Amino acid sequence: MQIGIDQLAFYTPQTYLDLTDLAHARDEDPDKYRIGIGQSEQAVIPVTQDAVTLAANAASQIIDQDNRQQIAMVLFGTESGIDNSKSAAVYLKRLLNLPDNLRTVELKQACYGATAGLQFAHDYVLLHPDKQVLVIGSDIARYGLNTPGEVTQGGGAVAMTITADPRLLILDDASAFHSEDIMDFWRPLYRREALVDGRYSENVYIDFFKAVWQDYQGQTGRSIADFTAFAFHLPFTKMGLKGLRAILPEATAAQQETLMQNFEASRSYNRRVGNLYTGSLYLSLRSLFDNATLHTGQRIGLFSYGSGAEGEFLSGTISPEFDSKSSQQWFEHFFASRKQLSVAEYEAVFNRQLPAHDVLLDTSDDDARFVLKGIQHDQRQYLDRSKKAVTDQ
Ligand code: CAA
Repeated sequence: MQIGIDQLAFYTPQTYLDLTDLAHARDEDPDKYRIGIGQSEQAVIPVTQDAVTLAANAASQIIDQDNRQQIAMVLFGTESGIDNSKSAAVYLKRLLNLPDNLRTVELKQACYGATAGLQFAHDYVLLHPDKQVLVIGSDIARYGLNTPGEVTQGGGAVAMTITADPRLLILDDASAFHSEDIMDFWRPLYRREALVDGRYSENVYIDFFKAVWQDYQGQTGRSIADFTAFAFHLPFTKMGLKGLRAILPEATAAQQETLMQNFEASRSYNRRVGNLYTGSLYLSLRSLFDNATLHTGQRIGLFSYGSGAEGEFLSGTISPEFDSKSSQQWFEHFFASRKQLSVAEYEAVFNRQLPAHDVLLDTSDDDARFVLKGIQHDQRQYLDRSKKAVTDQ
């Protein structure tokens, strides 16, 4: 049976920072950001958006009357959780008006959470082919003002439906994973910003990629010649380039050219959004789908990395029903309608903190369908503008 990604939607708020402006403000050469890091713009996440609303704004694009009753599980990958007990998935379930006969779970392992969700979803649909699983990767990447990691911030959500006979990517059964308890990047419960050992985290990313790539080849007998493209977890797009370069010498000159072209296609959207942690690999996959020329049966390799650390190499083939460039127009419109912030405006948004207790937020600057309206009695209050009513949580 063929199981995989049937739909893949993305959401991030409309405000962004041009990283050339940030470079000037931080007294850096803009080429360090544009070329050395591989980022040109960065999403700026207002206080009226959290992991739940980002996810709802992404998932509402692919959940409708046709598939609502078929969804059996919501697997929510995030490292930006809003509650130490209740999962973000159960909030999302309510905002999307999903039925009650549902499993709702939050999954955490840094940027790897959505991949765990994808693989659990694959196995569930294998046993229940008439069902669908909604997999989310939703995060806000924060390192802090004036830190080396600042240029690699961002945020947003991806939402995927995993089904039998998928229309985008048919997942292969084989995958290779690798886990080690290390301290390359982490965020203690009392912190809003991540702690990171930057250069070490880059080295571990590459080491894990090489380890799982070798394991995968041993398991499957496949080599680089079997792949049309690779999509990487992209904390910043140069990181994926470093990953690809680590194995590129295994390909012929002609294959290298194709793989590099397709890598450029796969980083086009991420370059303008920044890191979205759990969702980054899947935004890159969306970027590849929309910006490369792909054909049925071609194999794509995916490298997922979550600091701390877990790495996985998985693969899939392009579905016979693949609709090339299907969301390209959506992205063009989205990028064209974004609002650029000055560095001072970005810093003000960044420094805005949600108070621990009751607050009513001004949502007038946020035109998303789902917004965080405030906190009442320690409970987040969400607004679904399509209903024009407050959803109490
Ligand atoms: N023109 C072109 N390139 C330039 C340049 C210029 N004028 N000036 C510098 N560069 C290049 C440098 O040569 C360097 O290239 P290489 O990496 O190829 O050597 C690159 O720009 C970056 O320069 P620095 O190493 O000096 O940058 P930095 O010390 O300021 O920090 C960073 C870079 C370590 C990535 C930092 O941004 C950071 O800590 N980011 C967060 C951590 C991270 O994303 N780690 C990735 C792996 S962990 C992960 O994947 C999980 C996750 O999502 C966090």
